[in-house]
Amino acid sequence: PRFSRITGTGSKLPERRVSNDELAAELAGRGIETSDAWIVERTGIRARHFAAPEVTSSDLGAEAARRAMEAAGVQATDIDLLIVATSTPDMVFPSTACIIQRKLGIQQGAAFDLQAVCAGFIYALSVADSMIRSGTARRALVIGSEVFSRILDFSDRTTCVLFGDGAGAVVLEASEEPGILATRLHADGRHVEVLCTPGHVSGGQVIGRPLLRMDGQAVFKLAVHALDHVAREVLEAAGRQASDVDWLVPHQANIRIMQGTARKLKLPMERMVVTVDEHGNTSAASIPLALDVAVRSGKIQRGDTLMLEGVGGGFTWGAALIDY
Ligand code: ACO
Repeated sequence: PRFSRITGTGSKLPERRVSNDELAAELAGRGIETSDAWIVERTGIRARHFAAPEVTSSDLGAEAARRAMEAAGVQATDIDLLIVATSTPDMVFPSTACIIQRKLGIQQGAAFDLQAVCAGFIYALSVADSMIRSGTARRALVIGSEVFSRILDFSDRTTCVLFGDGAGAVVLEASEEPGILATRLHADGRHVEVLCTPGHVSGGQVIGRPLLRMDGQAVFKLAVHALDHVAREVLEAAGRQASDVDWLVPHQANIRIMQGTARKLKLPMERMVVTVDEHGNTSAASIPLALDVAVRSGKIQRGDTLMLEGVGGGFTWGAALIDY
């Protein structure tokens, strides 16, 4: 096959929706001051979902995958590749991918996790696309799943208001028609410290703080530049113009970063899928979650050209141009 094609999408949010007002009230109990007005103005976020303590990335990811498989009309026995992008895996090992594989009753093919933080889904989609085009796989599940609430520092108001939990998935199949037109991936490890969760396990103990920390302004500047650059790269690789893009499906970190990208590409805001208001930043899950919401609401139609793009810790970033 010359191409891979998205044949189904699915997503899952945890039940509990926490509005900015509810979060602000909870934080006030800890002596931390924030407000709906501040969060909406700086980020565009109005609410996020938080998973119950017993709910894991594999629970959310498996449900998103089930919905994507149903939409694509494929069975567990059809899947020969399963990639999970996550920074909040169930265990140190084995991979969340293997745990999801068991939950879905899949016993064949390859399964592994991929770590590129908020760019994880773009990385996973690009790897799955390459494996399908090379003939190594025919039907892949590509999942982004996160329980970021587990690694948030609820005494740091500059980060804990930004993130949420959730999962999204696509089924990617070998096809003679496009399909994924082009993907580009980048990383620059000079910026490890601007966004990280530095704790690790050693000798049966957690060494270092296993909570997210971020230099928000540094991230902001790096993100807008990186996204603009990689968006132009995939357009050029596919021989397309920005004006050919029907829907921009960006990583949902912050409405101001998203608007900055759309503006640089001269795309009207109406052609950008926005879910950050209701989901917050769900890291690797945010792009497939936004994609599924837009597909199921009828916004994104078959034949549309989509630009997916994301940026995250590392720094990592990437984009994919798709004929849906
Ligand atoms: N509530 C109320 N006040 C707050 C809050 C809050 N939740 N957080 C910070 N403040 C205060 C600060 O303490 C500061 O007060 P001061 O002026 O008295 O010191 C003031 O608000 C301004 O703080 P800044 O950090 O300058 O605010 P800024 O406008 O930069 O917004 C933000 C912060 C939203 C984090 C912004 O930098 C940003 O969007 N950065 C991008 C980061 C991002 O989106 N990361 C997502 C993860 S990375 C990714 O997915 C790519």
